[in-house]
Amino acid sequence: VTATPAAATAGPNGTVQQLPQTIIIGVRKGGTRALIEMLSLHGEVAAAENEVHFFDWESHFERGLAWYLSQMPFSQPEQLTVEKTPAYFTSSKVPERIYRMNPDIKLLLILRDPTERVLSDYTQVFYNRLQKHKNYQPIEAVLVKDGEVNLEYKALGRSLYYLHMQNWLRFFPLENIHLVDGDQLIRDPLPEMKMVERFLNLTPQINASNFYFNKTKGFYCLRDHGRERCLHDSKGRAHPRVEPAILQKLYRFFHEPNRKFFELVGRTFDWN
Ligand code: A3P
Repeated sequence: VTATPAAATAGPNGTVQQLPQTIIIGVRKGGTRALIEMLSLHGEVAAAENEVHFFDWESHFERGLAWYLSQMPFSQPEQLTVEKTPAYFTSSKVPERIYRMNPDIKLLLILRDPTERVLSDYTQVFYNRLQKHKNYQPIEAVLVKDGEVNLEYKALGRSLYYLHMQNWLRFFPLENIHLVDGDQLIRDPLPEMKMVERFLNLTPQINASNFYFNKTKGFYCLRDHGRERCLHDSKGRAHPRVEPAILQKLYRFFHEPNRKFFELVGRTFDWN
């Protein structure tokens, strides 16, 4: 990136576009959409609608920060701007690029049980392929090779959180990376969102009336100024049934990487 633009440009009616003061960096299938939508319930937050893929896609990154800024929502000057691109977390060149934009930026990382995340990742790709009228391999065929966990399966690597986290900790102190427990966010979103508010120094605003459990969807949905909505149908899909013996293999496979991750971040998660 050559030219450094101002951190904000003026828009209509006193609004501005601002470089994000916080970014949801991942993890893919961790609950990143739920997190950004729930954060948007807060009046002091303006969220980019789409995944920007600025720091991970060369064709975008080459356009420079002025282009990145142009992708941000119009906000009130006092609002915080946030974008989410789940692929950032697992892309090794991204931490340094974000650091160069703003070394003090606050990062949000939402994580989920690594095995559950793999199944969710598989399910997403499965649906994408189905839509393109291609068939796709059954889950066992991608997870297992010669009776062992298939290390070539990319989704497994994305769940090796400690590997990716190490890259981030080279540039950012742990205090600037807030970990959101994605499994907890599914079960009970409010406490997680209160912690996010605190991390971002937002006035406490998100409250119990912002959430209601929708039995049909099987997930919490959002209530925003009386308007109720659930996330898109692609969020909260049923996962394929995996043979218990294979599931056990996966749990075992992630045991040591998880331990390393807990050590790295100084906290544990309730993962299998
Ligand atoms: P599944 O569809 O596999 O259940 P992302 O937005 O990062 O792609 O993450 C998608 C995941 O968000 C979903 O994965 C789902 O489990 C989770 N999620 C968390 N809170 C949710 C909510 N309130 N509604 C729907 N999905 C939610």
